[in-house]
Amino acid sequence: MAEDFHKFITGNRAPKLPNLTYSVLALGDKSYKYFCKTGEDIDAGCKAAGAFRLTPLVKCDVDYEESAEIWMNNFLLNLTPVQSLTAAPSAITTAAEISKEAAAQNYSEFSKKNPYMATVLEKVKITGHDSDKEVFHLELSLEASGITYEPGDAVGIFTKNPELLVNQIIEKTGFNPEQKVDIKVGEVSLFDALTFHLEITILTFDILQKYFERTQNKELEKLMRDDKLLDEYLYGHDVLDLLEDFPFDWNINKFVEILRPLPARLYSISSSMESVGEEVHATVSVVRYERKNRLRTGACSSHLADSIEIDDQIPIYIEKNPLFKLPANGSKIIMVGAGTGIAPYRAFMQERESRGIEGKSWLFFGDRRFNADFLYQIEWQKLLKSKHLEKMEVAFSRDQEEKIYVQHKLLENQKEVYKWIEEGAYFYLCGDMRNMAKDVNKTLLQIIQNEGGISAEKATEYVKKLKKEKRFQSDVY
Ligand SMILES: Cc1cc2nc3c(=O)[nH]c(=O)nc-3n(C[C@H](O)[C@H](O)[C@H](O)COP(=O)(O)OP(=O)(O)OC[C@H]3O[C@@H](n4cnc5c(N)ncnc54)[C@H](O)[C@@H]3O)c2cc1C
Ligand SMILES: NC(=O)c1ccc[n+]([C@@H]2O[C@H](COP(=O)([O-])OP(=O)(O)OC[C@H]3O[C@@H](n4cnc5c(N)ncnc54)[C@H](OP(=O)(O)O)[C@@H]3O)[C@@H](O)[C@H]2O)c1
Repeated sequence: MAEDFHKFITGNRAPKLPNLTYSVLALGDKSYKYFCKTGEDIDAGCKAAGAFRLTPLVKCDVDYEESAEIWMNNFLLNLTPVQSLTAAPSAITTAAEISKEAAAQNYSEFSKKNPYMATVLEKVKITGHDSDKEVFHLELSLEASGITYEPGDAVGIFTKNPELLVNQIIEKTGFNPEQKVDIKVGEVSLFDALTFHLEITILTFDILQKYFERTQNKELEKLMRDDKLLDEYLYGHDVLDLLEDFPFDWNINKFVEILRPLPARLYSISSSMESVGEEVHATVSVVRYERKNRLRTGACSSHLADSIEIDDQIPIYIEKNPLFKLPANGSKIIMVGAGTGIAPYRAFMQERESRGIEGKSWLFFGDRRFNADFLYQIEWQKLLKSKHLEKMEVAFSRDQEEKIYVQHKLLENQKEVYKWIEEGAYFYLCGDMRNMAKDVNKTLLQIIQNEGGISAEKATEYVKKLKKEKRFQSDVY
């Protein structure tokens, strides 16, 4: 729907909207070069159509709450006089009611702003000894928190940065780790700011831009102008790389100013409350990789893997995802996921089993090796045996010369996949956004084209319709 609206309001067929009063709150992520571009386009589109911009566009980063609240208050304050001139009073109450209703839906005293300290009940490595990656299954207690969630939601986990990287940055800059710096949370030591409050393991386009504004480094400018180089640099480089690759004599306060607050990491919930009660489970793949002779570790996943033990407490909140949900009835479902993309399907199946929902389900799972990386293998086998899971196809990419991925399994089964979809099945996709999601999307189009005997354009329309009917849902990252 958003795609269609964007096209409509920015395209040649955009209507004239002289009677429209509007304001745009754009949600985005500063990791991306085109940060909040869609919001900007819609704002400009409405303005060009002659609409009245009630309050200015506000662009939010992942930590959206504060900016969103300011936008909402400003919007509501300004709405009343304009609306009373142009619209029926019911329109005014509606806006206020919406915000009240949103507040009423606050299901627990705990939230992203006030995270719950969840006790770790279980932490098990679920990849085998000979796997070349580590995936952990985590079970966290929600006891007496009042927190609820549904399959398809995610759990947000607050974390700290790797100490080694903090020390390397301090060493590189030569700053005194005890020196106080003024950041959003107040005055703290540089060491604490870099450990607990600021993002250093990930580079965003926004950081590069701010770094350039201060340093005017020509090499950095060249990099930022080349989309391909920029993408490559942003993935797999950190703040220490920036300091090493584009040296500059930084002032300590100016330096911390360019870093964004350390956001919580999200993990697809791999449990259903119907089955586990006051617990939430997550499936965490540990980020460790080497570049330029330096071993790098992901802030949250490596902290969970290396420093968190059973009985420890970690700050969490629930991130609702109404766009990744099981159908209310017992419709057929096709679930496609690679690696940790399997997580929400464990929740889906627990939910269906506990509630006795009988709809047929078909799982496509891909990972590296059968022996080492078959996540939750025994659980799937039990579900197959009990017929709660109708069918399962697996694609282990590194068990043979040529790669076999989930999309190859979809294609092998294209006749039946198409039949299920035609019969009303819901199609789910979860896991890697960079490659897998794009390839599975392409394969689905190909299947619809082949089996439906239709053109590429018609297949695209078909998938669009599935999305509109919420029969194609994806949760990719
Ligand atoms: C809705 C949602 C659901 C998610 N669900 C899950 C889930 O169920 N399980 C799960 O494990 N994760 C999940 N994630 C991803 C998770 O939120 C974190 O991004 C992930 O754990 C990494 O966080 P980190 O703090 O460990 O690493 P960070 O400190 O965030 O570092 C990650 C950065 O390291 C770099 N990097 C990572 N791997 C490589 C590599 N191989 N080569 C080069 N550079 C690399 C990239 O620059 C990347 O941005 C989900 C994300 C979202 C948005
Ligand atoms: N943003 C982040 O920092 C971050 C952090 C953690 C995880 N993730 C993403 O989340 C996903 C799950 O992580 P993970 O570590 O559990 O999985 P993973 O091992 O990276 O990947 C799982 C499986 O997907 C396969 N795969 C690779 N490219 C594919 C493609 N184009 N189409 C279909 N399958 C493909 C892999 O095969 P091969 O590897 O053998 O090619 C592997 O068998 C990953 O894909 C990862 O990229 C992102």
